[in-house]
Amino acid sequence: IPVDSFDLVIFGGTGDLARRKILPGLFRRFCAGQMPPEAQIVGAARTEMDDAGFRDMVRAAIDEFGGGAEDPGQLDSFLERVGYVAVDAKGDGGWKALKDRLRDDCVRAFYFSVGPALFGDLAERLRAFGLATETSRIVVEKPFGHDLESARALNRELAQYFDETQIYRIDHYLGKETVQNLMAVRFGNVLFEPLWNAQFVDHIQITVAETVGVGGRGGYYDDSGAMRDMVQNHLMQLLCLIAMEPPAQFEPDSVRDEKLKVIRALDPVEPHHIVRGQYGADEKQPGYRAHVENERSRTESFVALKAHVSNWRWAGTPFYLRTGKMLRARTSEIAVVFKDAPHSIFGAEAGRHNNVLAIRLQPNEGMTLDVTIKEPGPGGMRLVDVPLDMTFADALGPDGANVPDAYERLVMDVIRGNQTLFMRGDEVEAAWAWTDPMIDGWEARGDVPKPYDPGSSGPEDALMLLHRDGRRWRDIK
Ligand code: BG6
Repeated sequence: IPVDSFDLVIFGGTGDLARRKILPGLFRRFCAGQMPPEAQIVGAARTEMDDAGFRDMVRAAIDEFGGGAEDPGQLDSFLERVGYVAVDAKGDGGWKALKDRLRDDCVRAFYFSVGPALFGDLAERLRAFGLATETSRIVVEKPFGHDLESARALNRELAQYFDETQIYRIDHYLGKETVQNLMAVRFGNVLFEPLWNAQFVDHIQITVAETVGVGGRGGYYDDSGAMRDMVQNHLMQLLCLIAMEPPAQFEPDSVRDEKLKVIRALDPVEPHHIVRGQYGADEKQPGYRAHVENERSRTESFVALKAHVSNWRWAGTPFYLRTGKMLRARTSEIAVVFKDAPHSIFGAEAGRHNNVLAIRLQPNEGMTLDVTIKEPGPGGMRLVDVPLDMTFADALGPDGANVPDAYERLVMDVIRGNQTLFMRGDEVEAAWAWTDPMIDGWEARGDVPKPYDPGSSGPEDALMLLHRDGRRWRDIK
């Protein structure tokens, strides 16, 4: 279904995110027939360039990151909708020209695909030069601040120019198909919700493991680390969707109110429940410190922690979170590990068994539910756990494998004016309020992250975090 007609301006239109994600995503939506024919995409950045120059860049980006077009004519028609205006985010240059490009009778969205230092300047100029209308939206990328104080300052700054209903703070994890599916599974079935609490759930594991290192983003990353880069936003959002109470409706503020309650119910994490790691060198690469060109860096490229949501539903059920770079495999999954059956009628030799619901975000999006059955054969009542496997690609056919990229979904939601999958200002602040004391704590202690081998599951101490509780992490595979 096509969305309403729109003009989308991408500040930072020549940048990495625009080339890798936003522009290829828009092209795929165009191919899917969702972009109305008169819709326009205008790249805006400091570099002087004309429309043709930008179109060449977009064509190259789509060839490289977009998987190409089924019909080459499609890319040409898409590019006809693409233009460019050079603007100076901190000065007057280009704003009048940009305004003249925009139409009056359609949705106007401004995507700030730039560092947070420019958010305020852009917002101010959109107002000052009369580009922002009552229905315009701005989209802001992470990092949304570096800590609570800077996030508050950003929220205050944006609020001078835009209403909260016009601000779309992106966390691309919320655009992932399986993440949305989490809500469908929890609230669309009767099977799970009655068991979704401390009485039946032993613990929850959230793992986002990456095989890549910090790549070319060493400067940004060394100043952030895994806690700011991943936990404060992506893992926090996953935790919220798992832990929240059922919202009354699938509507922006219903959902976001419930997520906020979860964040506010999180206990401070004790220092001995946090493990930080930093990857070392191997024969293929020189290690984290060489990647970020800081031989004394104490920034973590891995973090694991044990969190508690102190409310009636979750009291006593730990949430173990871990994320890291240069690990054994690229796997993101949430595992809900249920308690053992209260009594085994099969005796001690049948062993201990419990159900695990694993939701795989990537790769092979899908879910498995481990159920205990009798091991086939005449050998008596021996039990074995087998997965009920629902890989989307198998269960839903080609459509299941054809999962749209998170950015495609989210940009279209901006045009539709649906904020459900975007973070509200108070949510972001609450998340920083939880992570700040952990970061301040290790900075004050002069904590040095534990080294770990590239291709491993992270530092040994992370395994111990669960062993001490008589539990173990699921394999990263
Ligand atoms: C980004 C982080 O937000 O998410 C990156 O800044 C990380 O460091 C990326 O690699 C992971 O996203 P995905 O979609 O590849 O899991």
